[in-house]
Amino acid sequence: MNHAEHAINGQPQHCAYGELIAGLQSEQKTIDPKYFYDAAGSCLFDQITSLPEYYPTRTETAILKHHAEAIARHIGTQRTIIEPGAGSCEKIRHLIPALQPSCYVPVDISHDYLSDAVTSLNQTYPELCIEPVAGDFSRAISLPESVSYQSALIFYPGSTIGNFEPAEAVKFLQGMRGLIGPEGMILVGVDLHKATKTLAAAYNDHAGVTAAFNRNILRHLNGLLGADFEPDLFQHHAFYNENERRIEMHLVSAVEQIVTCRNDQLHFAAGESIHTENSYKYTLRDFSSLVEKAGLKLEQSWTDDEHLFSVNLLSVVNSRG
Ligand code: SAH
Ligand code: AVI
Repeated sequence: MNHAEHAINGQPQHCAYGELIAGLQSEQKTIDPKYFYDAAGSCLFDQITSLPEYYPTRTETAILKHHAEAIARHIGTQRTIIEPGAGSCEKIRHLIPALQPSCYVPVDISHDYLSDAVTSLNQTYPELCIEPVAGDFSRAISLPESVSYQSALIFYPGSTIGNFEPAEAVKFLQGMRGLIGPEGMILVGVDLHKATKTLAAAYNDHAGVTAAFNRNILRHLNGLLGADFEPDLFQHHAFYNENERRIEMHLVSAVEQIVTCRNDQLHFAAGESIHTENSYKYTLRDFSSLVEKAGLKLEQSWTDDEHLFSVNLLSVVNSRG
């Protein structure tokens, strides 16, 4: 396949080791949440999506199903659809009949999982042009040259945008805006600010799947860094930080311990945490201000009756009369 360099986000590539060690050596130890997603992590996320406590997936899916025709009236048909973080490629299935894309470009860091998802989608839609891209959408990414990105639709569901810091989300949207040009559009799922109890429960499920997902990041790092993390020596801790309006996930060291990665040694005090994820929750007003900073306009939002989740259509400012 022919690929051209299209900067979804113009950040240079970093070596995973340097990036990860820097995070693990900072005062508040951190790991970028993109490292959740090896094949095992993607399977665990898939299990999360059907947990009773995890309302986002079923709520967003219901919104997409219910409003697919209305969404298509705004967007039209025959656009290229690019989906960053496509994962199982399940949600696009609800839009394909109405949007009839000219080509679908799912992008995901979890390459094997994406490959299986594309095989399955291809069985349902054998005529659809599908150009999967295995890569990190927070970096410059190589997209297939055969596809036209001008006037494309970026489909970014799941509230994956909430895993960026707000300033990073603006940069990401700016990168997307540059890729799709003045007539492009963005359809983005955003989880909404709500009662702490509902939010905290969604990240502390009774079955312990989110805890397993959180710990799996250490297993993944063992492979990437040649590290010797013992995931069972870290406890899952997730809570809603009301001031920052974000769920924070941490892994808390149960004991004092030293973890070795190649030539580096990481010291953990008992009770010290690694911050593994933020998941920002927005009001529609705050999200509208955020997208304006990226030169975009919130055209339309669709939500559920309980106002748990939103699907938002963005246009490029100054381009549509
Ligand atoms: N879009 C799906 C999956 C959301 S989970 C849904 O709405 O249910 C987040 C997805 O984004 C995962 O599949 C993960 O592998 C992918 N992902 C996370 N960070 C990424 C990055 N930096 N680059 C590419 N894919 C990423
Ligand atoms: C992918 N992302 C939007 C999920 C979220 O809710 O922030 C990842 C997740 N983390 C814990 N549960 C699900």
